[in-house]
Amino acid sequence: MSRLTVAVDDEAIASNVASLVARTDAAVMAVVKADAYGHGLARAAAAARRGGAAWLGVAQPHEALELRLAGDTGRIFTWLYGPEVSAATLIAADVDLSFSSPEVLAVIAAAAKEVGATARVHLSVDTGLAREGSTPADLPALLAAAKAAQDDGLVTVVGMWSHFAWADAPGHATIDAQADVFRAACDAAAAAGLTLEVRHLANSAATLTRPDLHFDLVRPGIAVYGLPPVEDPDGNNWGLTPAMAVTSRIVLVKDVEAGQGVSYGHTYTTSEPTTLGLVSAGYSDGIFRSVGNVGQVSVRGRRYTVAGRICMDQFVLDLGRGTDVQVGDEVTLIGPGGPTAKDWAEYAGTIDYEIVCRFGGLRPKGVS
Ligand SMILES: Cc1ncc(COP(=O)(O)O)c(C=O)c1O
Repeated sequence: MSRLTVAVDDEAIASNVASLVARTDAAVMAVVKADAYGHGLARAAAAARRGGAAWLGVAQPHEALELRLAGDTGRIFTWLYGPEVSAATLIAADVDLSFSSPEVLAVIAAAAKEVGATARVHLSVDTGLAREGSTPADLPALLAAAKAAQDDGLVTVVGMWSHFAWADAPGHATIDAQADVFRAACDAAAAAGLTLEVRHLANSAATLTRPDLHFDLVRPGIAVYGLPPVEDPDGNNWGLTPAMAVTSRIVLVKDVEAGQGVSYGHTYTTSEPTTLGLVSAGYSDGIFRSVGNVGQVSVRGRRYTVAGRICMDQFVLDLGRGTDVQVGDEVTLIGPGGPTAKDWAEYAGTIDYEIVCRFGGLRPKGVS
């Protein structure tokens, strides 16, 4: 009996990317970091390319190398350079790199010399997220260092980029403020003698709601997986389809009397004689323990709330006396006709990004 099955609809990913491509004059970089938000790096990347992604984006350098090993030959950008993968290996693999500091630029330049190639680099500017990126105050010196490395033939500064803090709140004042800082940084690059191929700032939220901020390249992530971070005013999910479905099975059905406490701590008590269904998945499978008595699943098209606490490997549903639910029936945690990843985010007090990363991270245990 399977415990938790995570199924990914590759065609949904391809069609989501195609619909994002159709929304913009900019090129699209499909963000496939963190194992493609739990959807599986290589298959999601291939689907994104089929949908028209000119670029793939990953945070960690090893993910870029995995894409190359999987046979991807297109433009790949990684933005969290760290010593766990040598810059020389990344340059030899023709991966575009990011830098926010003179130290990392120097490492990349030295590696380029070692490899005998010119590294393509994108300067990250901190426009207000206060995460990666050079502050505007440090930018002039960094631009000068980058121009010098470019003049030495070690790097080509192909891009300038930044990331929004609050783009999922359309109209928030930080959005335009960050865009202004970004434009000024691009102007400073031009004044320093650098010709940028791609300026990129927009995540999913800005890709969907701020066409004026697409610049040359947009970097949607969560929307690629059909989970837009802002509501579609037309109620059409922006034409995107959720790509992940999560299911389990009923492994036991049994009748109990009224007044029966259910699961650890008896936080749920049956109000009448009823039938309980046992589901073969628990918090060791990624189901948040906190969703006991709150989370919902769907069986035979009907919604049931989890009865009592989620255990390590199982949880219980109160199916009601006379139910037609049987051992072996599919239980939909996330998927068509059942709750969504957003519903699960609400049950668990988190965001759907974490839900798909978490369930997806467990895929090797499941099947499909
Ligand atoms: C630098 C960068 N760009 C783009 C994205 C994609 O963001 P989203 O998934 O909100 O579209 C992320 C994700 O957090 C990111 O860190």
